[in-house]
Amino acid sequence: MESKHVLSADQFSLSCLVRLYQKTEKISSLLKNRQGRLLLKQVMNGRTMGLIFYQPSTRTFHHFSLAGFFLGASVGAERGVARDLPNGKVEWDLVFSSQMKGEYPEDLVRALGRYDVLVLRHHQQGFVERMADILDAFGYATHVINGGDGDGEHPSQAVVDLFTIFQCLGCVERPDFERLSSTSIAFIGDSFMGRTVHSLARLLGPLGVLMRFVSPRVLSLPEACRREFAERGFRCEYLERIDDLTPGETMFVYNTRIQVADYVWEDRAHITKLAEEYMLTQEVVRRLRFLAVMHPFPRRKELPIWLPDDPDTHEISIDRMPEAQYFRQMDLGPVVRAALLWDLVAPEIGIQDLEEAQWAESFTKQCMCGKVFSTILGWAERPQPYSRYLPKVASCPYCGPRRDGQIIHV
Ligand code: NCD
Repeated sequence: MESKHVLSADQFSLSCLVRLYQKTEKISSLLKNRQGRLLLKQVMNGRTMGLIFYQPSTRTFHHFSLAGFFLGASVGAERGVARDLPNGKVEWDLVFSSQMKGEYPEDLVRALGRYDVLVLRHHQQGFVERMADILDAFGYATHVINGGDGDGEHPSQAVVDLFTIFQCLGCVERPDFERLSSTSIAFIGDSFMGRTVHSLARLLGPLGVLMRFVSPRVLSLPEACRREFAERGFRCEYLERIDDLTPGETMFVYNTRIQVADYVWEDRAHITKLAEEYMLTQEVVRRLRFLAVMHPFPRRKELPIWLPDDPDTHEISIDRMPEAQYFRQMDLGPVVRAALLWDLVAPEIGIQDLEEAQWAESFTKQCMCGKVFSTILGWAERPQPYSRYLPKVASCPYCGPRRDGQIIHV
């Protein structure tokens, strides 16, 4: 990673994205067998990661946690509890921390500055960046990852989403960035509060993707984002209704829930009802001929669930249609986040290093006892140059029936 922290989707260069996707592929293949899984644990062996989530989370929290486990990191975590404000809004407290004794958040992060990585989620936009600034100002080496800051950004989700788009386009081995300029995406739902939308748009905009923001006026992209995207030459269109989309002209749909709890409006029922108008049903997906539907989750009414014991849901839910790519997107979460952690914390370990180690492992310590290496010079107790290794054998002088083999000492 070119930068010390991951705070915004803006910071991912093309070369960084290519590297992340190559690492994602490598991690996926290593996770398939025991030997690969053990090897992967070398990447963050001895490193630590703290997950500090004021706001609730299922995927981002557990997927970062899993990513850390895949790479051999030790993971510590703390999560917040909701507190209702007099204005009807909600904030979150870390009830087991000294925040409850009035601790400054700046002191809290300094206390956590011995973690190699801190993934932070908070209800205020800019909070995570501020904490990263504090750590930098006081010389901490900690890498900070923005796990979602208010209605700001959610960069790790955007990287997961872009990888899903490449998988849907069938170009994962070689992510084809040029192809994206002939691709279009419709962001349907809450583009106002939706930080996943803000981040994904910042990844796709510079790549020339045509972005259609479909939402009622109250939930449309914030004015500041509109202005910024226009200045940066992103291809954006703003529509108010799903029916304003022309059939067959939008490949991807990125659906989001309406974050009702985060709006202070007298008529929340009205907002809840809007979700029904923006619902993606089988009929809508077929009529508008979308290639793939994505959703960062959690979902509410806008994307009806399929339940085995409820035949009504079978008529409307798209869960079992091939266009439903949101479960694939969810599955990719831990692996892509592992690639992100690897690139951030251990950039000195290249993909080739793991490949060489994997290759060497397959030749060495072939015996169940794992005590010696079989080489062209005989049995060796110490690791040898790769060119000397011989293929696997059934037994060695330590554990085989003939225990009189010569061990070479080099
Ligand atoms: C979202 C989030 O929290 O930003 N989910 C996620 O992290 N994958 C979306 C939401 O809360 O609606």
